[in-house]
Formats: sequence, C-alpha cells, structure tokens
Amino acid sequence: MAMEIRGTGKAVPVRRVSNDDLAGKIDTSDEWIRSHTGIGARHIAGEGTACSDLALEAAREALAMTAGWEGGDRENRDLAAAEAAKSLDLIVLATAGPDVYGCPSTACLVQDRLGARQAAAMDITAGCTGFVYGRETAAGLLLAGKTRKRALVIGSELLSKLTNWDDRGTCVLFGDGAGAVVLEKTGAPSEGPGRRGLVGSVLGADGSGADHLVIRRGGTRNPFKAGETVGIPPHIEMNGQAVYNFAVKAFADTCRRLLAEDGIGVDDVALIVPHQANARIVQAAAKRLGIPEEKFFLNIGEYANTSAASIPIALDELNRAGRLKQGDLVMTVAFGGGLPFGGNLIVW
Ligand code: COA
Repeated sequence: MAMEIRGTGKAVPVRRVSNDDLAGKIDTSDEWIRSHTGIGARHIAGEGTACSDLALEAAREALAMTAGWEGGDRENRDLAAAEAAKSLDLIVLATAGPDVYGCPSTACLVQDRLGARQAAAMDITAGCTGFVYGRETAAGLLLAGKTRKRALVIGSELLSKLTNWDDRGTCVLFGDGAGAVVLEKTGAPSEGPGRRGLVGSVLGADGSGADHLVIRRGGTRNPFKAGETVGIPPHIEMNGQAVYNFAVKAFADTCRRLLAEDGIGVDDVALIVPHQANARIVQAAAKRLGIPEEKFFLNIGEYANTSAASIPIALDELNRAGRLKQGDLVMTVAFGGGLPFGGNLIVW
C-alpha cells in the first residue's frame, strides 16, 4: 500500500510587501534582510482574511487538480473541488494561527466550507514542522482505517497577525500563505522496485528549546484578564541565534537520518524541499552535509517564512512547473517553534 500525493494547491495573498516597503516603516534595509535571510518580499493578507480562508483556497486548488481541472473559470474549479471533496475521509490542518483558539478547529471550518461531509477533521500544532507532522498523521490514520482512502493535508498561516510589527528582529522574517496536498492510499508498493508515495520519515522534537520561539499571551498559562488593556496583541518572540543553531543541526541530522534509514545516497535524491525559514540556514546545513546548494529548492525570496505552509507551497510550485517527474525521490525537511523537526522521503 502506498500513500501517494494526487494533487497540490497553494493560496498566497495578493498584497506583496517588499523589503523596501518595510524599510519605509521600520529601521531596516533591503540589504540587511537579503544578506541575513535571503528574503526579498512577503505576501500579507487583508484584515478580514483568516486562516480558514487561505486554507480553503489552497484546498480547492489541490482537490480540483485531482479532478483533472486544468485552470480557467473559478466557478468550475470550485465545482470540481466540491465534487472531489465528497470522497475525502480526513482533513488535517497544520497552523500556528487558527481562526479561533481552542475550538472549533480550523480543519472543521474548512470541512464545512468544502462540503466534505464524510471527512474527519483536526488541527495540528507543530510550528513550522506542522506540514511534515500533518502528512505523517494523515498517512497513519489512512493506514489505520480500512475504509479510509483519501486525506487532505493543509498548512495555512497568517503570521502577519502574530507579529510585533515594531520588532525588526522578527517582523521582516514572516509572510502569509497556505498550501495543500491530497494524499491517497493506493495499491502501489511502498517498498522495493517501483515503490511510490511516502517511503521514509523522521520526526522529533526538542521541547527544552520551547522558550526560543514563543507566543506568550492568550493561553491558559498567561490568559488575558478581565479589564486588561493589551499593548501589543499576542505575537512571536524569538531568540534568533538559538533558533538558528538548533535549525542548522536539526536540518542536517534529519537529512542524514532519512538517507541512512533508506540506505541511499544523496545522489539518489532528485530534490530537497526545505522549510523556507532562512536561506542561510539551508546554506549552512548544505555545507555540513556536503550537498550542493542546487539540490535545495528555495522560494523564500518571494514569500518569506510561511511556517507550516512553506513546504506545500513549494511542492505546488514545483509540481505545476513540471519539475517533479514521476519516480523522482523528493526529500522534505522542516524545523520550528516548539521545537519540533522532521522530514519525509517521497517518491513522486
Ligand atoms: N534590519 C536591520 N538590522 C537588524 C534587523 C533588521 N531587520 N534585525 C536585527 N538587526 C540588527 C540587530 O539589532 C543587531 O544589531 P547590533 O549588532 O547593533 O546589536 C544586528 O542586526 C545583528 O543581529 P543578530 O540578531 O545577531 O543577527 P543574526 O546574524 O543572528 O541574524 C536572524 C538574525 C533572525 C536573521 C538569525 O538569527 C536567524 O535567521 N535566526 C533563525 C530565525 C528563524 O529562522 N526563525 C524561524 C524558525 S522556523
């Protein structure tokens, strides 16, 4: 039995904010941001947009692809997506910024708007590793249920709403977006010759670093109190250097383990799709691993760090550009707030 990706989709807000746009508002520069992160721009959602809105859009793109929709009229796309949604057994949505905290899950909101009546729905909290954890969770649940066949895995983030826009150390790093894949349990082999789909996985976490990337307010540890005036809404606080050091090590270790556990060399991998946090993290990990940088796909220049959405957005861009050929071995690797990390090997 194989867990194959049947469709991909993405949704990115239209509003593009360049480094120069930011430099007009805070004490930063295009040169600093590019040289320290590789970021050139980010896309920022409007005030009325929430996590489920971007998630729904990415989901419809992915579902319509499975139904053979090839672009054009949006109404037809939504009809194709609605039809495909009827066969979903599961929706797993990874996010750090759900529509509302606690309940309902954003996955339930998406399930309703898609009309996916047969689908179970749940959110995953694993920071920027959310999509890797989400895909793994979905694959496990498909395997565990005899009649379950199809899952939708979404990463959707609006970190612009969880950012302190006066903190130049964090606000330049993040962007909004969503990506989705349709995962299907098929009769193809997952081992040996002709293997397909998800063939390898590494998951881990280092909770001792939880304080290095954290949103402190709003939870049960530090709830808002009646009558309290909030200076800055809940926002990400980060120890950049500590996260950087953790990320380079977790990145390199995950790649090494994925290769070793599968008994393959890096030359067998067609492309590595990393979480897009910082081009320098990718470069440093590539150097440690002795892997040429060309092996890594980077689109951080355009979207910045979209957390759990960054890998599915990248997969969709690559897929639609025809850069993922049937049989290609693709490695994904992610790390993030918590501090979880992980990666997958996928035969496309
Ligand atoms: N523009 C201009 N200057 C900035 C700046 C900005 N946006 N942000 C920080 N600086 C300044 C600092 O104030 C500091 O100035 P000082 O030397 O006068 O005090 C200087 O740049 C160096 O700051 P530092 O924090 O040491 O920079 P750095 O080289 O560590 O790079 C990060 C900062 C955030 C880019 C880097 O630590 C990083 O990428 N960390 C990982 C973050 C990440 O990926 N998080 C998400 C994980 S999923």
